[in-house]
Amino acid sequence: MDMSGGGLGNAKYIFVGGKGGVGKTVSAGAIAVDAARQGKSVLLASLNPVHSLSSLFMQNLSGGSFRNVEGLKNLTAIEVEISDLLERYRMNMETRLKEFFKWAEIPINPEPFIQIATTNPAFQESAMFDKVMEIMVKEGERYDVVVFDTAAVANAVRLIGLSKLYGLWLARMIQSRKEAQEYRLRLSVRKEKIMEEIKKDPVVADLLNLYDKFTKTRQSITDPSKTLFYFVTTPESLPISVVKRFITMVQSFNIPVGGIFVNMVLDRSDVSSDPTGYLQAKWEEQRHYLGLIENELGQYVKGYIRMYPTEIRGMEALDKVINDIGEFVPS
Ligand SMILES: Nc1ncnc2c1ncn2[C@@H]1O[C@H](COP(=O)(O)OP(=O)(O)OP(=O)(O)O)[C@@H](O)[C@H]1O
Ligand SMILES: [Mg+2]
Repeated sequence: MDMSGGGLGNAKYIFVGGKGGVGKTVSAGAIAVDAARQGKSVLLASLNPVHSLSSLFMQNLSGGSFRNVEGLKNLTAIEVEISDLLERYRMNMETRLKEFFKWAEIPINPEPFIQIATTNPAFQESAMFDKVMEIMVKEGERYDVVVFDTAAVANAVRLIGLSKLYGLWLARMIQSRKEAQEYRLRLSVRKEKIMEEIKKDPVVADLLNLYDKFTKTRQSITDPSKTLFYFVTTPESLPISVVKRFITMVQSFNIPVGGIFVNMVLDRSDVSSDPTGYLQAKWEEQRHYLGLIENELGQYVKGYIRMYPTEIRGMEALDKVINDIGEFVPS
């Protein structure tokens, strides 16, 4: 397999997507280890409600802080604590809403609105995306490569797509806030003082801050020299459909696609020793889907990973995966 440019971590920010359970965490781990082995300083960030980096590396990486992965000095991992994240995000939202009601002089109890805003299903995804942005514009600066292991359902692609909408929405919010302030201030403040006053407004400052974060993230995320989105599938019907849908979505947001890893692939040589015929049947089924992947997504395939008899845990197992991606061609 041609890994031109050498290695998998060929962009600063790498996202890994795919259906639940197909091997996203394993692939994210392989990409991170491969880049670290090449001497790059790497951050592997998990944003899953149930973390699996500790299990993957067989060491304690929990607690929500940046931790060195034992065995590779330039690999850092973080399992972002979703509950802390949600709580902070909720408080932030609460402050914003209260500020807004106060400012707009709406004499109403803000609690129900806070409830609605923070219990809707997009809230968790928004909070996670906020954290992704924070890592990208802050901590990410300190690393050569940042690999995001995002949740299976928290469809990271949609979140990134949302950033465009958020951007538009924020620009609009800032504008109307400015207009309203200007109108108000005109009554009490001299004209030349108006802009100065508007910039002191904490809501405008907050919105401008957010807008700045979104703009920076969007710029990075749509730049193929900075960001690559990888997908993982198994040779099965549903995971392939999920990847196809993701690729279409990602491309519609101008986010660069890095490629596809095809995981849990059986080789002809694996099946001969199974007297039940189960593996033979599975292998035949996989041939069908591998053909389909080749036909419809062939241009994106970056590598194949073997089906192993046990879970993939520890550096040695990850090295095998990296090796597979580089050279395994299933027959
Ligand atoms: N090629 C493989 N051979 C054998 N086991 C594998 C292979 N790839 C992944 N696994 C195992 O399958 C399980 C799921 O893999 P992984 O956790 O990487 O999937 P995921 O897509 O991240 O799942 P989730 O959607 O739950 O986050 C793990 O126990 C992992 O060790
Ligand atoms: Mg996972």
